[in-house]
Amino acid sequence: MKNFKRLLVTAALPYANGYLHLGHIAGAYLPADIFVRYKKLIGEDIIFICGSDEHGTAIEISAMKEKVTPQEIIDRFHFDNKEAFNRLGIRFDIYSRTSNEIHHKTSQEFFLNLYEKGLLVQKSEKQLYSEKDRRYLADRFVEGTCPVCGYEEARGDQCEKCGSNLSPLELKNPKSKISGDTPVVKESVNFFFPLEKFQNELQQWMSGKTDWKANVKNYCEGWFKTGLKDRAISRDLDWGIKIPVDGQEGKVIYVWFEAPIGYISATKELFIERNQPEKWKDYWCDKETRLIHFIGKDNIIFHAIVFPAMLMAHGEFILPDNVPANEFLNLEGGKLSKSKGHGALVRDIVKEFDPDLIRYTLGTNLPENKDSDFSWDDFQAKNNNELAAILGNFVNRTVVFAMNKFGGKIPARRTTEPAKELSSEPDIFKFVREHSIIIADCYENFRFRDAINETMNVARAANKYFNDSEPWKIIKTDEKKCEGIINDCLELCHALAILISPVLPFTSERILKILGTDSKGIAWNKSGTYCLKAGAELGENEILFPQIETLAETPAETEKKDLSLSETPDNLIVIDDFKKVFLRTAKVTESSRVEKSKKLLKLKVKTGGNVKQIIAGIAEHYSPEEILGRTVIIVDNLKPAKLMGMESQGMLLAAKKDGKLRIITTDGEFEDGGEVS
Ligand code: 2FM
Ligand code: ZN
Repeated sequence: MKNFKRLLVTAALPYANGYLHLGHIAGAYLPADIFVRYKKLIGEDIIFICGSDEHGTAIEISAMKEKVTPQEIIDRFHFDNKEAFNRLGIRFDIYSRTSNEIHHKTSQEFFLNLYEKGLLVQKSEKQLYSEKDRRYLADRFVEGTCPVCGYEEARGDQCEKCGSNLSPLELKNPKSKISGDTPVVKESVNFFFPLEKFQNELQQWMSGKTDWKANVKNYCEGWFKTGLKDRAISRDLDWGIKIPVDGQEGKVIYVWFEAPIGYISATKELFIERNQPEKWKDYWCDKETRLIHFIGKDNIIFHAIVFPAMLMAHGEFILPDNVPANEFLNLEGGKLSKSKGHGALVRDIVKEFDPDLIRYTLGTNLPENKDSDFSWDDFQAKNNNELAAILGNFVNRTVVFAMNKFGGKIPARRTTEPAKELSSEPDIFKFVREHSIIIADCYENFRFRDAINETMNVARAANKYFNDSEPWKIIKTDEKKCEGIINDCLELCHALAILISPVLPFTSERILKILGTDSKGIAWNKSGTYCLKAGAELGENEILFPQIETLAETPAETEKKDLSLSETPDNLIVIDDFKKVFLRTAKVTESSRVEKSKKLLKLKVKTGGNVKQIIAGIAEHYSPEEILGRTVIIVDNLKPAKLMGMESQGMLLAAKKDGKLRIITTDGEFEDGGEVS
């Protein structure tokens, strides 16, 4: 690939007339944000541009329905969406808005540039006009019967049922959405962009794009095959950017002509804010800038065909290098379901869940090559079985060990003497560095799902390294060696904090804080090298991903369960039920009777690095001495409960027969901290 000096990344400007939902995030914003964060970590010069798309008929219609001004609508959604992005950690360099003065000016200049070159032709066209509303009814102001599938509420621009692109004139039985009036056909003169003229140039340009995603290329091929048609770029509307030509009162620039110009306006605005008002030109006019548009598939035509043609026509700007569009994310089988009390709106979900969990669940499910599905069960499983069980577990067991055994300080690095086998780094460090290259390659090629899976493979390998090194055993015989192992593991936590940071930026910060450091100075190529200072204090430990309890059920699911219950005995559980119970081996380190109780023993047990108090009902079967030093099995994730005023933080497993009770032990087989499954 060509070497570029800098990168300019845009994400589709969302309309400011609706709240963002998970489908939007998975379509464009999350992949863009992950990509940009990765590029920043490898030290590339990159800016990330977005903002609200604030014109167009949809906004005027919302305003009309609510009897408020369009300005009120766009203010509401602009600020809300901006905040939602922020809470999700989608970090644009600027989140602008197309209602800004600078955008109006930039769009008008763009329009005039083409107009003055004689590229824009005026054509008279038949349009629907409502006598009652006294206006032309642009696309979405009309509703009628779809000529393709017969759906009666098809919009003037598209049938939502069958997806056909329509023009208002094709609708059968058209009605005004404003008044219900039946419109008449009337001529209106509009400006047209000569898209047809650009077909050859576009095709030639695209034939060089061998690295584009197949879904995007195929889509464009389809358009080329049908033949591109000139497109009207003015509309009979009030709300929008005025046409900068005399005699055009009552007309505005078509929203899809000016919205992508918004990327340019926002870049200008960004550099005005940064006190470098001319610098935007480096990003838009220099061939050494790589422009990438992140979008959902419904925007392909505009970003891969229409906008490039506009840029060609203008002549002073670079063309996109890539348009890595995603397909759609279906939510709970296709509906934007409000099931389980959780809507799909970002603004609601961020109030309830860790933003990184949202990023991870969507990230592992991105509709990169085909539509994908999101479900709430998946959300829970990704948290409990992946983030908590693999990544969170590794960080926690390492840090707890260092806290308990090495006084909360980073222990010494492995030394050459006296233990020979510690003289070089362990193989896992090489594995991490190799993986950082593999993951980087995934990012470079917009394969975000693969990147995330490979990143989790590093966390898996780190857990394996911990297990195989058996620090809990080694500490008894060779403390120096154990220090080296835990130092390695803390370094692996650090490496993971780097590798996950494009996907899980908040978690990355939290891990670094636990390690007693921060994100200043982290860089991609530092993963798999020694970065921490032995002897430095660790920060405070915290559980990165608390378990998520089963989410409330949808009515449909309850029904499904009822059905299945009638077919199976009701004492059967599914494997997922069992997986919720965390069983662990634990060593009893203290044991005493509970005063005034015949039945209870008060135990302290040790599991890995943790010590817990358990009030166990075994006093009639075991004396305190009998149980001391035994390795038992406990339920480790039982909600703490109070027994006779004392907190019990777990439960012992025991078998009972004929009134006799025996604890289950792994004496002689297993140390404490083993996972029982
Ligand atoms: O589909 C949409 O939400 C559009 N508002 C996207 C515009 S992208 C760009 F052209 F501004
Ligand atoms: Zn239809």
